[in-house]
Amino acid sequence: MTQTADLPRAVAAAVRDARRILVLTGAGMSAESGVPTFRDAQTGLWEAFDPSQLATPQAWRDDPPFVWAWYAWRIKLVRDVEPNAGHRALADLAALREVTVVTQNVDDLHERAGSEVAAHLHGALTELRCADCHTQYDDAPALPDEPVERLAPETCAACGGDVRPGVVWFGEMLPEEAVRTTEDAIEALAPGDVCLVVGTSGIVFPAAGYPAMALAKGATVIEVNPVETDISDMCHHVVRGTAANVLPELVGAVADDPG
Ligand code: OAD
Repeated sequence: MTQTADLPRAVAAAVRDARRILVLTGAGMSAESGVPTFRDAQTGLWEAFDPSQLATPQAWRDDPPFVWAWYAWRIKLVRDVEPNAGHRALADLAALREVTVVTQNVDDLHERAGSEVAAHLHGALTELRCADCHTQYDDAPALPDEPVERLAPETCAACGGDVRPGVVWFGEMLPEEAVRTTEDAIEALAPGDVCLVVGTSGIVFPAAGYPAMALAKGATVIEVNPVETDISDMCHHVVRGTAANVLPELVGAVADDPG
């Protein structure tokens, strides 16, 4: 394994020589856009709460306005920020190689940077639906200007139930199609292809298992993350840097010498 804070030539060469590149992204991908990661300390109103306690069906059943206030604030936060240089670099890479982007992120920053996202494994913040009858809710929800501790969820026009965010909560099934698309993309990998893992702590399954599946297909696994993670040990290369620093350099190196 190579581990470095610089972009080693071997990493650029692996990406340059790959036929297919599977990119797996997590919350760190959007950190430099200003979206806090899940395992960063929460700030303000939510500092006493672990997001894994807020992101559960139980939390919603106990107190919908409390959970909705957190998500409404995240929707507003994401709406007001921009994709970073890392998102843009991945969109540029798709012009150079066959790229499949799979993300655990519930924001739309990859899409706004110009990437096609093959799978949102944990759903999408803004795909709202009724918690009771599952009817899609297409209206724009009322969002607070500042974080608030409680906010009444929108009401479903079909049944009067509370409207919830379209994210996957702990204990819920992942969207079947997203899982199938991801597994197909992994199945299509061959020796010489690359699995690029950006900004995930690698602790939430099944997403945390995908790099090992890519490894088993013979792909070169590259991690981009400023700190060691649960998957670092199994990677061929680890670049200790941030998405917005490393990815433009990596894609620039491929563009300058497309091979
Ligand atoms: P985490 O918050 O667990 O981990 C974020 C990772 O990003 C950490 O390993 C950080 O070191 C890294 N990181 C931070 N800043 C970075 C940067 N600028 N560039 C690159 N990496 C950076 O986020 P996820 O692994 O995505 O699930 O979390 C997985 C799932 O757990 C989330 O999708 C969510 C959460 O609870 C659900 O809500 C179901």
